[in-house]
Parts: sequence; C-alpha cells; structure tokens
Amino acid sequence: MKVNDVVTYAVEGSIAVITVNSPPVNALSNAVRQGVASAVETAIGDPAVGAMVLICEGRTFFAGADITEFGKPPVEPTLRNLQLVVENATKPVIAAIHGTALGGGLELALVAHYRIAVPSAKCGLPEVNLGLLPGAGGTQRLPRIVGVAKALDLMTAGSPVSAKAAKEMGLIDELAAEGQLRADAIALAQRVLDEDRPLLKVRDRTEKLDAARGKPEIFDDFRKANARKFRGFNAPEAIIRCVEATLDLPFDEGMTFERQLFNELQADSQSAAQRHVFFSERQAAKVDSLPADIPILPIAKVGVIGAGTMGGGIAMNFANAGIPVTLVETNEDALFRGLRIIRGNYETTARKGKMKPEDVDTRMGLLTGSIAMEDLADCDLIIEAVFEQIDVKREVFAKLDRIAKPGAILATNTSYLDIDDIAAATSRPDSVVGLHFFSPANVMKLLEVVRTKDTKPEIIATAMKLAKTIGKIGVLVGNGYGFVGNRILAARNGQADQLILEGATPWAVDKVLYDFGFAMGHFQMRDLVGLDVGWNPKTTSSANVREILNEMGRHGQKTKGGFYDYDENRKQTPSPVAMQVIEDFAAKQGIVRRDVSDAEIQDRILFAMVNEGARILDEGIASRASDVDIVWITGYGWPKYRGGPMFWADLQGLPTVLDRLKALEAAHGAAFAPSPLIERLVAQGKGFKDA
Ligand code: 3HC
Ligand code: NAI
Repeated sequence: MKVNDVVTYAVEGSIAVITVNSPPVNALSNAVRQGVASAVETAIGDPAVGAMVLICEGRTFFAGADITEFGKPPVEPTLRNLQLVVENATKPVIAAIHGTALGGGLELALVAHYRIAVPSAKCGLPEVNLGLLPGAGGTQRLPRIVGVAKALDLMTAGSPVSAKAAKEMGLIDELAAEGQLRADAIALAQRVLDEDRPLLKVRDRTEKLDAARGKPEIFDDFRKANARKFRGFNAPEAIIRCVEATLDLPFDEGMTFERQLFNELQADSQSAAQRHVFFSERQAAKVDSLPADIPILPIAKVGVIGAGTMGGGIAMNFANAGIPVTLVETNEDALFRGLRIIRGNYETTARKGKMKPEDVDTRMGLLTGSIAMEDLADCDLIIEAVFEQIDVKREVFAKLDRIAKPGAILATNTSYLDIDDIAAATSRPDSVVGLHFFSPANVMKLLEVVRTKDTKPEIIATAMKLAKTIGKIGVLVGNGYGFVGNRILAARNGQADQLILEGATPWAVDKVLYDFGFAMGHFQMRDLVGLDVGWNPKTTSSANVREILNEMGRHGQKTKGGFYDYDENRKQTPSPVAMQVIEDFAAKQGIVRRDVSDAEIQDRILFAMVNEGARILDEGIASRASDVDIVWITGYGWPKYRGGPMFWADLQGLPTVLDRLKALEAAHGAAFAPSPLIERLVAQGKGFKDA
C-alpha cells in the first residue's frame, strides 16, 4: 500500500514493513517524515500487526535531516515528533540499516527498539561537519548506548563507523547477511515478538552514564587533547556541553538543552558557512557545459614524468586507488630517490596504523620506475611534473607527443605556466589538460583541473571523474596565471610583502591570519614551502626581501632559517636577522616604517584576496564563486567555518566590501581598485552567491 509518494506499507505475516524510497539519499524531508509517521500509526492500529520494520530502498538508510529544508518554517511532524511516535509505539519497531545511517537518520534509528544492519553499512553523527550538533536526541542517546568517551569521539569527529564496530559498541543489536536485510529484519521482528522481548528505549538506559559519573576530567582531558583540532569551531564545544548534560540533567531536560544549543548553532554564520561548503563541494564536481551522456575515458594505466616532490605524491594517489603507474625520471639516481621516498611515506603510514603493513608492498608493486619515456606508450593518462620551466616542459611534451598512444590524456602539473603554450608543443593540443595537484600531493584534497582553449570535453569529464576516483575534490578552472588558487595567493603575497615593509612584522601578519582561523600564517607557510621555490640564483638581484633571504642561504624551514629561525625540532622563533633585512630593505626603498594595526593587516590581506577572486570570476577563470571558496578551503587552509573568501565577502555584504575597497584604493593604491564584477553586483543588489 502506498502511504504517500515516498513511503509504502506492507504486512507480511504479523510484521508490518515500512519502506522509504526518496532518492538520492532518503533525507528526512517533510514527505518522508509524514509518510513514516502515518505508516507507524497505521501499524499500531492494525490488529494483524505485532511488530514493524523500518527500512529504506536505494543506496542508503536515511542520510539525515534534509539540509535543504534548514531555515524554512518547520512542517509537522518535526523529526522530534516523529521520533516520539516511533519511540512510544506500543509495538516494537526494528530499524533495518544499509548504506549510511547518518545524523537524523541514525537518531531515528536510536528511537527504534532494535537495530539491525548489513555488514557494509555505516553509522555516524556527522552534524559537526555542518557546524551543528546532533539535534534529534543524538547527544543524549548516544552516550547512553555507547558511553560518554566514545560518544564524544564519534560526535566531534563526525566520521561514521562500520556496522561491525557499531555492533561491538552496542549501537546496533544484530548484523544481517549482506543483501538480505529485509528478510533478516523481518526475522528479527518475529523473534522479538515470539520471545516477547521488551520495548527497549535508549532514553531509559543509565548503566553507561553511571560509569562516567564523578569523572569530570573526562571532559577536560578531551577538550585539552583536541584543542588544536577544534580551534575556532563552535560545534565541538556545544557537543561536549550536551554530553556533560547527560550526567547532570534528566533525559527530557537534556533534550531541551540540546535543542537550545542546536538552535544557536543553526542560526550562527559558522553553520551557514559549513553547509555552504558541503553543497559547494558537490557543486564543484558538476560541469554545466558538459552533456550528461558525455563518454568517460577509461584510465587503466597512468604515467608520471618527474619523481620529485610532486611526481612522487601524484603517483601515490593512483597506486592507492589500485591503478598501475609508470614513473619516469632523467636518471637512475633521481628515480631511486623518488621511489625510496614513496616507500618511506607508505611505511610511515603503516607504522601509524593507518595502513596495513602488507599493503606497502602491494602499492609499491603498482609502481614501475623507468628512465625511458618510451615506456609510457601504453598509458591512458600521462602527468608531467618536471621543473617549472617552459622550455623544459615544451620539450617533454613534444617528445610525449611522439610516444603517447592516440587518445591518451596528456596532463601537466604546472603551477603558473601557460598550458596553451605547453599544448602547442604537441600535434594534439585538444588532448592536453592541466591537473594541478597541491603539496603534499598524496594528502591535499584539492585538484585544479585546468581546461585550455582546446581541451576536449570528454577529457574534462574524465579528469573530473578521476578526481573523485582518487579521493580528490576536483575544481574546473581556466588557463590563466596561477589559475584560481595561486593567483589569489599572489594577491595575498603582494599585501603581506608590502605590509612588512610599511611597518608590520611577519609574526604580526601571521598572528592575524592564524587568529582568523588559518592553519598557519602567511610567512610560516612560505618558510614551509621553501623561499627558493621558483627562485633562480642565476638571475637573482636583491630585488625584494625574499631574494635577499635566499641569497643569504635562508630558504625556510629546510635550512633552519627564513623569515623565522628553526631549531632541530622545527620549532620556530621570529628571526632578528630577517627583521633586519626587512628594515634595511624598507629604508633603501625610502619607506618610513609606521605602526600597522592588526585591523589594517586583516583588511588589506582579505579584501585583496576577495577582489582578486572577483576578477577571476569575472574573467571566467572560475565558473562559480563557490568554486573559488572550495579552492581556498581545500588547498590553502582557509577556515572552513568561514566558508571561503567569497562566502565571507557575501557575509560582510558586498556594499560594505565595495566601500572598504574604495577606501583601501585611496590609501594604498591600484591593487585595491574594485573589480567591475563587485560594482555590478552591488548595483544589482546581489552577492557573489548570485553571480
Ligand atoms: N539533505 C539533503 N540533501 C542531501 C543530504 C541531506 N542530508 N545528504 C546528501 N544530499 C544530497 C547531496 O547534496 C547530493 O545532491 P546532488 O546530487 O543534487 O548534488 C546528493 O544528495 C548525493 O549526495 P553525495 O553526492 O554526497 O552522494 P554520496 O553517495 O557520495 O554520499 C552521503 C552520500 C554519505 C549520504 C553524503 O551525501 C553525506 O554525507 N550527506 C550528509 C549527511 C549529513 O550530514 N547528515 C546530517 C544532516 S544534519 C541532521 O541530520 C540534523 C539532525 O541532527 C537534527
Ligand atoms: P622537483 O624539483 O621536486 O621535481 C622535479 C623532478 O622532475 C626532478 O626529480 C627532476 O629530476 C625531474 N625531471 C626534470 N626534467 C625531467 C625530464 N625531462 N624527464 C623526467 N624527469 C624530469 O619539483 P616539484 O616541486 O615536484 O615540481 C614539479 C612541478 O609541479 C612544477 O611544475 C611545479 O611548479 C609544480 N607544482 C609544485 C608544487 C610544490 O609545492 N612543489 C605544487 C604544485 C605544483
């Protein structure tokens, strides 16, 4: 029987089966909640029914509240009211879980009287990733079922656990056979009936809470241990407070407290920012201009040219995904060094327990080293990661053109060079694309996919799909200096360099950015990357502070000195030597140093970045403001809870941004001349989100 468009009701023997089918992820939308509530009430009133099974079709059990309904007026039954219907049902409800039971979905399962899951299922409360806490009783019920310590871990990490782990911690009662969830859930329901098992309610359980009573240090220790990870985020602390409340308050009062904190988080800009990030990541994967039926090219074998910092990490991505890679270097020494570093990386990962020791050899077995580019003839995709010099790259591509099989994708990892120029060295520029990985390439999530004027649509589609296969977030960008990420970085560089000459110290600049929420300051990052990256000792001319530091042998962390000094443990201290260089250089330029306030540092750096982002958008180098946000969040450590530079600008209000830019232009010059896009949007009363 159809209950509504998304819920059906069937009775098998004495078991009612309530089936939900609301693609793509069975989010708990208005229709889903209404249908389930109505079906449960039908089952309660049906004398033929003794127990019921709540199950979903499609790829997953409920993936949570419907995030698209946030901020809209609530429609009955709310999730909490639906939970009351289930929890207070006079007949047992069995939640049957496959796919991912997440957020409100798991919270709904937690008011069922029994839970069964297939081994491949996962359970989690990922609300923290959206700047929220589990707001449908998760913070009150989870500690009652798995204990305080595990509940804190699960809810603040937000990552799901396997069904097996969930069973071990008591979160689910039984494992079903894979592919037989429906039958096994019905059998469990029948057993519950036959054995006259009680209507178990998680809310009534206290034994796990009792174990934590009188140990307030659990919470303080947890706060301390995670201080770095939680820095700046509001949701983790709210979750901890809710879990503390499970020990101090009766269940219903705990629920009220949870609701209050949930509402505060939901109304806050952090959650809006993190929800923006969630949808923007998914949006980035979509390329509007490509037809839906575009063919995806098979990538069964990959070649990587250059086994340096980037090439090695790039090769690891494919080996991790089970795709064989041939790695080409100029000589045996460089090749062995590259392969040794890769093995070392894998061994470290295995030592940390993040990878099975036997997988080290499996993955290394997928890597073949070579010093002959001819060995790339059978590769479907070849990625070049050699020195950042146009003539070297053109030579590599000209040779590659003669070697690569027809139809192979030829990619470059260049940071700044013109990819049209590189492609022109081949007879097949439409097969050339940029795949711009970020360092360390086996870790960083971002992949800028750079389309040239000629890149074939199926290559773009394949590259975007490939990003997902290797666990990256692919963002399609245009071929312009520095693409999206590095071009905005250049704008930040420009201001940071100027600020330290005018009177700020590098550490003051860094502190402002760190306090804003960046993982590290600007100059700390430059020291880490290496001041000599892209610096040419042959043409150096003491033209700026960075060149002078390089000439002094101060290349950053690796030489124990750059803007900062470093000890053997890489602990940094502000460097008086670097400070002297800055002051001397400023004097030579005739700059009279002055006090520069933190507010000025923040304004100049952030507004310069936003303005550059707007220009990039206006030029079509990025196709959405949200893509710019994703680049800076996933590639450069922009704090997630601030949603990216364009989201942040919208939050300030574009009229305010325009006013600030005009004031900065008057005080500091043309770098701040507002992008025409900002002027247009303000005139139209719009924000970047509408661009
Ligand atoms: N609400 C609305 N839409 C959702 C959604 C949700 N909770 N979860 C996913 N979607 C949408 C996505 O936006 C995407 O839409 P699109 O196709 O139009 O881009 C589509 O479903 C498919 O999502 P994915 O591309 O992410 O599919 P995957 O198969 O890779 O992943 C998933 C599936 C693991 C379920 C993943 O989508 C996910 O993690 N979803 C979010 C889960 C979540 O955060 N739940 C908690 C919500 S908050 C809550 O429950 C509050 C409560 O405590 C009161
Ligand atoms: P690297 O200097 O560490 O490695 C380059 C490697 O290429 C060296 O091992 C060299 O021996 C090898 N090589 C040079 N010519 C070759 C040829 N003809 N055939 C085969 N191998 C050759 O450089 P890195 O840092 O890995 O950079 C590589 C590319 O990646 C550059 O274009 C760079 O701009 C880009 N990039 C670098 C990032 C970084 O943070 N280091 C980040 C993103 C991109």
